[in-house]
Amino acid sequence: MEQLEKYSQALAKKLGESVQVKEPIQLYEPLSYIVSLGGKRLRPILTLMSCDFFGKSFDKAMDAALAVELFHNFSLIHDDIMDNAPLRRGKITVHEKWDLNTGILSGDAMLILAYQFFENYEPSLFKELAKLFSKTALQVCEGQQYDVDFETRDDVLLSEYIKMIDYKTAVLVGASMKMGAIVAEASKNSQENMYTFGRNLGIAFQLQDDYLDAFGNPKNFGKQLGGDIITNKKTILYLLAMEKGTPSQINELVGLYSIQPENPADKIKNVLEIFESSGAAQLTRQEIARYTQKAHDVLDQIAISSEKKQVFRDFGDSLMKRTI
Ligand code: IPE
Ligand code: IPE
Ligand code: MG
Ligand code: MG
Ligand code: MG
Repeated sequence: MEQLEKYSQALAKKLGESVQVKEPIQLYEPLSYIVSLGGKRLRPILTLMSCDFFGKSFDKAMDAALAVELFHNFSLIHDDIMDNAPLRRGKITVHEKWDLNTGILSGDAMLILAYQFFENYEPSLFKELAKLFSKTALQVCEGQQYDVDFETRDDVLLSEYIKMIDYKTAVLVGASMKMGAIVAEASKNSQENMYTFGRNLGIAFQLQDDYLDAFGNPKNFGKQLGGDIITNKKTILYLLAMEKGTPSQINELVGLYSIQPENPADKIKNVLEIFESSGAAQLTRQEIARYTQKAHDVLDQIAISSEKKQVFRDFGDSLMKRTI
């Protein structure tokens, strides 16, 4: 865990340097703002860790780690516009602090800034990293589009939802880990295993995100609680409630998901009751554990020491128990 501290300190320093405010201020200030709000920085830490574990100094993966974290921050700025979210990391969102156009353009600039970090690698590594990055970024856009499409569909299947969260969230976690392995010049097999490990962990991570959106603690969650319910997101909680609920619970839930009240407090309260009483909340916790376990099963096939595997395992378990 001391090692984790070392990664995050080195990363924080570089991130600060990479988002300096300059002219035009209106373009760059939001970048510095969102990055300074921190967040867990789990993706870049995984990149650094993965490189380190395959025997190369973690510094070598720093540019890839910065690219991943800046891309993630870009996706949050645009996601908050799309989700009409007022809060991020406990503070007002970029598009509400400034305005919509600022959110769009600063987000665009951040995406390009992210990509530029790959230019610091020699041509063959640059090509490999950039290729994985572009493929992943496009999948994130596809996942985000499905997420929005599902808001107004009432026939979303659990399998479609899993694909949606795989794309919007898990592929980036997988790519973050694979990039560390690429930079460390690990075998193709190890690179793929790291990708699969990260992807399963990423699915568990998004399931937990959906769970916390409904049942998190307002004191530390940092986002608007019930935001997914307000926007009628077809999350795992909703889909499992529709599958396991009694006819009257299902009826009530469909009704609640067809309204957009000015004051959503009652809607949220009633939906949460159905999520609990239908067993969906409990089943979601089981699914989070199941995908974390799936990730851990992949670890067994990776050619690193059992000590190092244990660090990944502990990391996965800590994500499952997280409250933010
Ligand atoms: C939020 O990601 C968006 C999702 C993909 C769920 P994080 O929960 O990693 O956000 P920060 O970076 O820690 O704020
Ligand atoms: C976000 O999913 C995924 C991306 C940012 C690509 P969510 O919309 O659930 O993320 P939060 O809850 O706003 O962080
Ligand atoms: Mg969102
Ligand atoms: Mg979203
Ligand atoms: Mg969410």
